[in-house]
Amino acid sequence: MAETTPAYTTSLASAHETVTVLQQTPQLIALFTMIRDINTQRGDFIFYSNRIIRLLVEEGLNHLPVQAVDVSTPTDMTYSGVKFEGKICGVSIMRAGESMEQGLRDCCRSVRIGKILIQRDEETAEAKLFYSKLPEDIKERYVLLLDPMLATGGSAIMAVEVLLERGVPEDHILFLNLIATPEGLNTFAAKYPKLKVVTGFIDVGLNEQKFVAPGLGDFGDRYYCL
Ligand code: PRP
Repeated sequence: MAETTPAYTTSLASAHETVTVLQQTPQLIALFTMIRDINTQRGDFIFYSNRIIRLLVEEGLNHLPVQAVDVSTPTDMTYSGVKFEGKICGVSIMRAGESMEQGLRDCCRSVRIGKILIQRDEETAEAKLFYSKLPEDIKERYVLLLDPMLATGGSAIMAVEVLLERGVPEDHILFLNLIATPEGLNTFAAKYPKLKVVTGFIDVGLNEQKFVAPGLGDFGDRYYCL
């Protein structure tokens, strides 16, 4: 019989001020239940993952700066609201991070998207950088970094290094992630204390193969191949 794990773990969330965990509503837990289930087929995996991604993007946008603006309404009154300040772009960590691009596009029309290809070595689980292509003016933008899984943290750390080398300030990067491990999050947040993370859930930890446990398996395989 499979080992059971607590329904959700939030203990680490409060340990890092920069980490936001999505509110664990029954709806979100139902979505995670679908994508974690080994019996869920690819069509459903894509559909329910996309719904979680949309929630992550919506929450992520709450962490971008806004400025006050007044508008006139059709009743000839003034509404004091806000508008986003500054330009944004998305950067996906290929391959699995590309699955999050459409969710970002659905909320931010014609958003620019850069790509960083990083793959974990299947034997050692060490991240290796293969390729990056980013908007020319990326250092003037807020960057939404996209990767569904944070295991050891190696891939996300490598991606942030690429962004920092291109001149993006650390506090202009927002990492959107479906499931993180406490180990990966601790390493990541300690290295980048000014970088905000929005995650869907913090799992129990890493297993012997350095996969997220209980996790959902290989996100990229389940979204694109299986
Ligand atoms: C997976 C996942 C993350 C990374 C997380 O990608 O999508 O990018 O591993 O692990 P880490 O935190 O230990 O670095 P993988 O390298 O398997 O490639 P994929 O996106 O092609 O599936």
